[in-house]
Amino acid sequence: MSYPEIRPRRLRRTAAMRRLVAETRVDPAELVLPMFVKEGLTAPREISSLPGVLQHSRDSLRKAAVEAVQAGVGGIMLFGVPEQRDPSGSGGLDPNGILNVAIRDVIAEVGDATVVMGDLCLDEFTSHGHCGLLGPDGEVDNDATLTAYAEMALAQADAGVHVVGPSGMMDGQVGVIRRALDAAGHQEVTVLAYAAKYASAFYGPFREAVESALEGDRRTYQQDPANLRESLREVALDVAEGADMVMVKPALPYLDVVSAVRAAVDVPVAAYQVSGEYAMVEAAAANGWINREGVMLETLTSIRRAGAQIILTYWAVEAARLLRERY
Ligand code: PBG
Repeated sequence: MSYPEIRPRRLRRTAAMRRLVAETRVDPAELVLPMFVKEGLTAPREISSLPGVLQHSRDSLRKAAVEAVQAGVGGIMLFGVPEQRDPSGSGGLDPNGILNVAIRDVIAEVGDATVVMGDLCLDEFTSHGHCGLLGPDGEVDNDATLTAYAEMALAQADAGVHVVGPSGMMDGQVGVIRRALDAAGHQEVTVLAYAAKYASAFYGPFREAVESALEGDRRTYQQDPANLRESLREVALDVAEGADMVMVKPALPYLDVVSAVRAAVDVPVAAYQVSGEYAMVEAAAANGWINREGVMLETLTSIRRAGAQIILTYWAVEAARLLRERY
């Protein structure tokens, strides 16, 4: 019988030892909370497929933003749900549209205490639910959409947003938005590019959250889940066009992409743990099939380990509190 001379288990013997040698730590300051605000609501409303996540009223959004700041999250990402939609998504460009109003509200409430981000996409505002404007042939018209994105960026910048998050996957969107911001004197507004965004079935619950009108799919603009090299091309283009940070989305099913993107660029890399990732864990936990907090922290740690420095997650506030207790 020969005994091992080298014993990796020594480094796992106590919680203190494990903490000492941990290679990856999730810090609350790296978590970003996505939040929904719905026009006309007087009280927050639950979203059945996203238990624990709310459609906020303007009022409840302000309060929840303060709570998120107190929990120490690094940022919040705002999504607006309008009462009226039209083919051009004009509610997204309107300074009095719900998203722009909400940005103003949140900035007035929390100022620079956290990083306030706005989703820059038309899908919540269009009657057809697509991320861009449709041409006469019914296809999404890339270049017409860019003009609308530029205007939407200015509306968010005027509302005081710190970061715009273009998520529509139109070619050239980052460059057009950057130039529009700069030309209007908004050099300070940061662009977080949803650079590698896949046409994913994991967005299902989000579509309920924003009451999406979409029929069909987004496969002519979002990426094919089969492709990794294509992501590197998208990311390189976005960085060249002036993206300050890039994002991979979804997160857990695309850790290989997160890792490859991390290796390819020197700007901060974010990953979005999307609604379906969250909902699956919540559903299994509600059935008593998995340990909810354990899986929550394990998924966040995995996304961090793969190379994402920033994680968008619906658990941001709760995870921030748990992490403070544990470390
Ligand atoms: C588009 C957008 C989507 C999500 C974030 N931004 C939906 C889509 O692309 O269809 C999904 C986020 C999630 O599922 O949590 N504005």
